[in-house]
Amino acid sequence: MVPTDANFMGNVFGGHILQEIDQVAFIAASRHAKTGCVTASLDRVDFLSPIHVGDVVDFDAEITYVGTSSMEVWVQVRAEPTHGGDLRPVAEAFVTMVAVDPSGRPVPVPPLVLESVEERLRFEEGRRRMEERRRTRRPRPE
Ligand SMILES: CC(C)(COP(=O)(O)OP(=O)(O)OC[C@H]1O[C@@H](n2cnc3c(N)ncnc32)[C@H](O)[C@@H]1OP(=O)(O)O)[C@@H](O)C(=O)NCCC(=O)NCCS
Repeated sequence: MVPTDANFMGNVFGGHILQEIDQVAFIAASRHAKTGCVTASLDRVDFLSPIHVGDVVDFDAEITYVGTSSMEVWVQVRAEPTHGGDLRPVAEAFVTMVAVDPSGRPVPVPPLVLESVEERLRFEEGRRRMEERRRTRRPRPE
């Protein structure tokens, strides 16, 4: 992180991290879908500790659930001082990306290959979160 990423206190803007989270989720989703994707929603994001100018920030994205055209991407954000030290968790978020065709219409994505018990568990949790999003979201305006 460089000084232009920071507020007057020397901490990195949350909005800057949100932008990176969105981009990392986009890359993960596009690789899985092998087509363009759009961000449909970003769940609650908690900033667990401040990120300072000079920190090296690590973004790790994983697809946890896929529906028909939607994908839930879990992004974990960790930071460490430039000269090394412990990688500390600073934020995490669940992003829903939707695969779309060139006219922006949703298109189906390949299924997720689940190999471990942990992956199956995450998929099931993702399915429940996706149902909750579907239940609570506002209808798309006409
Ligand atoms: C996301 C978008 C493509 C969905 O289109 P739609 O016509 O509403 O399509 P559908 O209702 O058929 O939904 C398609 C999928 O998206 C999911 N979805 C739609 N809106 C969602 C939301 N707000 N949150 C999570 N998932 C959502 C649906 O559950 C469905 O999933 P499934 O195919 O796995 O069952 C459309 O709302 C859109 O283009 N939004 C703007 C996206 C954008 O521009 N993002 C960047 C912001 S600057």
